[in-house]
Amino acid sequence: MSSMQSALVWGLRYGLPGAAIRLAARRGELIARSVVDPAAMDDPARLYAQLRAMGPIAGNPRVSASAHHGVVNQILRHSGFVADPGAAPTRALNRLLAAAIDPRALGPVDAPSLLAIQPPQHTRIRKLVTHAFTPRAVAGYAERIAAIASGLLDQVDPSTGAFDLVKDYAAPLPVAVIAEIFGIPTDIRSDLLRIGNEAAVTLDPALTWRDYRAADRAIREGNALLDRRIAEVRRDPGGDDLLSQLVRASADGDRLTDEELRGNTLLLIGAGFETTVNLIGNAVALLLDHPEQLAGLLANPDGWDNAVDEVLRYDSPVQLTLRIAAEDVQISGERIRAGRPVILMLGAANRDPSVFDDPDTFNVARTSAHQHLAFSAGIHYCLGGQLARLEAKIALRTLFTRFPTLALHSRPTRRATRVLRGYQSLPVTVKTSPNQALTPTP
Ligand code: HEM
Repeated sequence: MSSMQSALVWGLRYGLPGAAIRLAARRGELIARSVVDPAAMDDPARLYAQLRAMGPIAGNPRVSASAHHGVVNQILRHSGFVADPGAAPTRALNRLLAAAIDPRALGPVDAPSLLAIQPPQHTRIRKLVTHAFTPRAVAGYAERIAAIASGLLDQVDPSTGAFDLVKDYAAPLPVAVIAEIFGIPTDIRSDLLRIGNEAAVTLDPALTWRDYRAADRAIREGNALLDRRIAEVRRDPGGDDLLSQLVRASADGDRLTDEELRGNTLLLIGAGFETTVNLIGNAVALLLDHPEQLAGLLANPDGWDNAVDEVLRYDSPVQLTLRIAAEDVQISGERIRAGRPVILMLGAANRDPSVFDDPDTFNVARTSAHQHLAFSAGIHYCLGGQLARLEAKIALRTLFTRFPTLALHSRPTRRATRVLRGYQSLPVTVKTSPNQALTPTP
């Protein structure tokens, strides 16, 4: 039964729309290329400029898209649009999809994940978790983040000095941080990392059946793992970690249902590392490619905050998101009809020359860097933005202060995901001098 349900969900959500998108991309249609063609992403600046030249809101028969900062920002904050990243192409298909979804396989794009629900449910759940991610709460995690970062660097083998910056540092660091916030025992963290990596592709449109099946299996495993952990916490609910707090809130079903508890814990834990790993990896690659800017930061550590924002702007870890018009809406003189999906190209908005001078130049001292939309805007604005910024700042400062001779060791590879943009592998060494021939792909 569950594999038939999975096949139906895949067909409605990814298979049908995916076939249309791939066909359009093969014909060279720009919006379709921007969401499925990995080659287009080798040179995102060029593609984004072409998309922007199509006007404030570009469109094809199925979907609209915007690469303009002003329009993207306006739609993200507009109450006439809803977030439903896993929606099927029509209302009728959506009803079928809702009936087919297996509650044991609910992932980050399924309600009741915060990413897929609207007020008042969204407001109620967000309120229950916000306190753990306020600037004040986040500042309290700084010491632990620094200790985790140093502990990981202690494990670099001094005889070779070589390691994979992603696998050995950028990935485990945010996993450890979010696991500590949720009181997740150390022995299941590597499972969480694997599950998160396998499930992250569900954010992408046009997933193949094979990739979807692997992600679906991982999401089921993640749900089962959390169920076991939640049962443990229910037996001993006195802890002050965030999961214990949420379990106590769920004891009163009016505040949080069991499904809301599990779905949002899964989202928060996954969102806590699947994106931050990309921020740290993208930052290291960019700084190694701009040694003079790195030297400036090491001489003036006050610049790290702005540098992190510039990385978020220039090589955004979340490249795009989706909104659906809930009613007929007029934007930039164009009418968007109810039900129409609009792709918001966050990564492209962050290269909009009307907001950022010389947008395709990486400049850690850029004063407008913080105006990026890498964390979205409006009611779904990233809950973990402050945490991600702090983790990245501490991770980078600790890394480059400890290993000022850090250099690429062999060619980095990008992750295949389209919504999430980062490195799969970034082989580095602390022993040799930088090898200019191995500059990362743009
Ligand atoms: C560099 C790191 C990160 C980036 C680039 C990022 C980006 C984003 C973006 C773009 C959204 C909104 C999507 C939309 O509007 O459709 C979002 C939402 C969210 N993020 Fe992050 N994120 C990062 C780190 C984190 C961390 C560390 C957490 C940990 C708690 C987190 C938790 C969330 C949650 C729970 C939401 C959903 C919020 C809602 O819908 O109300 N994120 N993130």
